[in-house]
Amino acid sequence: MTVAGLTALDLVAGVAATVVWLGAGATAAARRSGLALALFGVAVAASLARVWLALALVPAGSWFVQEKVTLTLPLLLLAALLAGVLAGPRLISTARGREGASSGPAVVVPLLGAGYAAGAGLVVTLLIGYPATWSTGLITVALVAAAVLVTWRLVSASVPGLRATAAVALTVGLIGVGLAFVPAETTDTGGGPSGAMDTGGASDGDQMHHGQPVTALRGPSTPAAGGTARRFTLTARTATITLSSGRKVAAWTFDGRVPGPPITAAEGDLIEVRLRNADITAGVTLHWHGYDVPSGEDGVPGLTQEAVLPGHEFVYRFRATQVGTYWYHTHEVSDLGVKMGLYGTLVVTPRKATTEGAQQGASEGADLTVPVHTFAGRTVLGDHDEPFQQRVAPGESVRLRLINTDDTPHQFTLSGTPYRLAAIDGRNLNDPGELSRTRLRLPAGGRYDLVLAMPASGAVLRVDDRAGSLRLTPDGSRASGDSGADAPATAGDASAVPVTGEDTSGWPEFDPLTYGKPTATPFSGGSRFDRRFTLVLDRGLAVSGGRPMYAHTVNGYAFPSIPTQLVREGDLVHITVVNRGRETHPWHLHGHTVLVLARDGNAPTGSPVWLDTFDVRPGEVWDVAFRAGNPGMWMNHCHNLSHADLGMALHLAYEGVTTPFHGTHGG
Ligand code: C2O
Ligand code: CU
Repeated sequence: MTVAGLTALDLVAGVAATVVWLGAGATAAARRSGLALALFGVAVAASLARVWLALALVPAGSWFVQEKVTLTLPLLLLAALLAGVLAGPRLISTARGREGASSGPAVVVPLLGAGYAAGAGLVVTLLIGYPATWSTGLITVALVAAAVLVTWRLVSASVPGLRATAAVALTVGLIGVGLAFVPAETTDTGGGPSGAMDTGGASDGDQMHHGQPVTALRGPSTPAAGGTARRFTLTARTATITLSSGRKVAAWTFDGRVPGPPITAAEGDLIEVRLRNADITAGVTLHWHGYDVPSGEDGVPGLTQEAVLPGHEFVYRFRATQVGTYWYHTHEVSDLGVKMGLYGTLVVTPRKATTEGAQQGASEGADLTVPVHTFAGRTVLGDHDEPFQQRVAPGESVRLRLINTDDTPHQFTLSGTPYRLAAIDGRNLNDPGELSRTRLRLPAGGRYDLVLAMPASGAVLRVDDRAGSLRLTPDGSRASGDSGADAPATAGDASAVPVTGEDTSGWPEFDPLTYGKPTATPFSGGSRFDRRFTLVLDRGLAVSGGRPMYAHTVNGYAFPSIPTQLVREGDLVHITVVNRGRETHPWHLHGHTVLVLARDGNAPTGSPVWLDTFDVRPGEVWDVAFRAGNPGMWMNHCHNLSHADLGMALHLAYEGVTTPFHGTHGG
């Protein structure tokens, strides 16, 4: 069974154990000793089931059972043992018809106590999550003890040693509360050296990047030799946009349109974007998602710049060094800002349109960029909220650049023709094979580049089966492979080619880790790493931005309290991301492309996979690595931006780089 399945079963067993222990106590108190005995038996079984489930989870990684092994199961087993010893024999003898005090405190209190212990364990897992700390442990034990004492006092006139025991429980609880206020470490060195301002050990002795403010790490102001300067001005402002159906949506826009103006360049060009803010009162920045720009151009408010407020501007400059499909979006109140429309596409094509270049995305053939976003509950492709079509001459090569600008994954299917997935997150795959009848699940923030030869009969790209579609037609009429049911009537319909409905919902899901062919990588899972970090994602009570909340946590903390990951330029850095929760977390590190080393311990068997955003689904463990070659201060966060807003974000900082800003915002 999967980790997610075992975890779900464990929750069921936890609820069952709690309810049945409490039920046993309540029925015993009501003198229904036969029923109490039966419930006692079920409670013991449910408690043992929790132990068994925890053992079954151990091979997946200690993170999945940490709080169970150190706290909740010992507590439950101790309470169950006491209940068994104290209440068990009396329940049995009463059920056998012998006279016994099966409704007395010696039976009822231990049974209810086991219920409290079981319930407390459940609460710890759901409310606190990973990791259980001394603070959590002491508070939990004190609360269970207090509940037992109160119960005991209610069912019995006198409780021996009540005051003394209550005093001990109170003290233990207060120590636990006090420990909760011990501040977290501010940095995590990942097992590497820390020496904050010491430059002596820097791998390349490059003094430029040490003791430097991030604001000094800016891009060049000229293109590379042979490139041109491409200048754009984007003005952020509120606007009412009109989708293709005529539907009007109140949006936050760049230049009054959603998506914002496409930014395109050829490799080696200089991209210069002047961002102006007309009336977005929350402020705005530009972050170049997946583009490893110099840190000072990265657009993170409070870290690399201040948010641009109405009437102000900021100029971004960087060279188009990475070819491929990317996107840009605001990073100030990004959860709301991106949802409202402050995003656009960034596409960089190879400089030379050689034959190989055409494969990689040169402008030869049809090159369609398809950002998918949700507005007012509708799936919108570009600005199309209804099925639309695009004419492509048969035989022409087509490149479809799919971009997920939402918080959750989208499913894409392409019917009517085989195709190849040439690139993920802008990085070409090695020897990608032909795909057909396959479901492509694209993580939030991620990109897929599909390439195909336009078939004479047309093809249909569908999003989430029925939510949106783009048909490629040779002559502007309907394509085959399309049911036509969702198509608006068009003039050419009478003579359209026969349509065949294709149900794509059962198509198997594509796995990027088994696609294409292996090839050499600069490092691998067996490399010697300079730093190793582990990020355990969960939910729990935490303080984020001064507010206590039910946060999306990393190692038990929420932004900005999650220790900053410290690296040195040149380090080979290993990051393990563990999802203990029940939601998918699209993990995104700014400024770097990571190589996937393994998912759930299994290395990719196909092409190397370089990503900037990877979905860590419930119960999954991802191992990724990168070479620290882009000095600065970077966000490392979940790209479900509502999760980031609830704390799931941290910084990765290069030694010696400082920020003049408060650093506790991040957007
Ligand atoms: Cu596209 Cu910090 O994100
Ligand atoms: Cu998330």
